[in-house]
Amino acid sequence: MQIQTVRIGNAELPALGLGTWQWGDRWVWGFGRGYGEADLREAFGAAVRSGLRLVDTAEVYGGGYAERLLGRLLRETQAPVLVATKFMPFPWRLTRASLLRALRRSLQRLGVPRVFLYQVHWPFPPRPVELWADALADAVEEGLAEHVGVSNFTADQVRRSADRLSRRGVPLASVQVAYSLVHRSPERNGLLEACRELQAVLLAYSPLGMGLLTGKYGPGRLPSGPRRPRFAQQLRRWAPLLRALQEVARARGRTPAQVALNWLVLRGAVPLVGAKNARQVEENAGALGWSLAPEDVDRLERASWV
Ligand SMILES: NC(=O)c1ccc[n+]([C@@H]2O[C@H](COP(=O)([O-])OP(=O)(O)OC[C@H]3O[C@@H](n4cnc5c(N)ncnc54)[C@H](OP(=O)(O)O)[C@@H]3O)[C@@H](O)[C@H]2O)c1
Repeated sequence: MQIQTVRIGNAELPALGLGTWQWGDRWVWGFGRGYGEADLREAFGAAVRSGLRLVDTAEVYGGGYAERLLGRLLRETQAPVLVATKFMPFPWRLTRASLLRALRRSLQRLGVPRVFLYQVHWPFPPRPVELWADALADAVEEGLAEHVGVSNFTADQVRRSADRLSRRGVPLASVQVAYSLVHRSPERNGLLEACRELQAVLLAYSPLGMGLLTGKYGPGRLPSGPRRPRFAQQLRRWAPLLRALQEVARARGRTPAQVALNWLVLRGAVPLVGAKNARQVEENAGALGWSLAPEDVDRLERASWV
């Protein structure tokens, strides 16, 4: 079977992207302890070798470090990498011009004239989502972004944004939200439906539940940092799902991470997977090119629904 792909504008790309929240983030991910820049360089190299094209970053990741490192890596490769980055509507950013200023700073860090996808990171007040939709349309018109999307928006905010963009002839290309076997709310809160209707791609973040669904964590094996107390609880709550994942993975000759990601692809989402090293990227790229059987999907969904 060929690898699953997705179309955004004229580009057809593998239905799996690389996330970069880990790049430079000390607090949640422990950058500098257990992994560092050399590992991330290798992770990026592994993504390129595996044929992955979409790399998701944000101006806030590592306080700009993620975009700067990605910029350096882009200059060192000929691979057709597609960069998606994000604008954070901090409360002091009040005008359309503030989005364009932030985008220009991102482009400088990345060392590129335009990004493939520019997204509004969160629908934070005080400004309405329509203001940012207008600013995203400005970004496309000025040639600074090929496509635009939103992240962490409700279904209503997604529709309002798409409507506003359509007045300028700009389609809403993507909606990025948390979606995984331990976070299935997009199926219930209308987001998956809104994406289908608007023909926007659903980019699934934290597709491995921030590592929980890899199967490597257990009661005596917890990560350090803020994931620790959260995982201690989640491991109890999701014990049947984690068992089902292990069993399906064993039966299909895959790993739990590959099964969890393949399920998202079957659901029509594009997982953006974070990784700290090449090995993780290589394993995650193996989530494409095959499909879970209907009975596997059934089993996983029965164990994951709460
Ligand atoms: N728009 C937003 O608000 C938002 C929010 C969150 C994330 N994101 C984006 O989505 C991306 C992915 O989400 P995420 O990073 O939160 O979570 P994730 O992809 O669910 O989990 C990533 C973590 O899981 C572990 N892991 C990954 N692959 C593995 C493998 N094959 N084997 C073992 N462990 C593996 C690694 O951490 P350990 O090795 O430490 O376990 C890795 O850092 C981010 O990088 C970011 O680009 C966006």
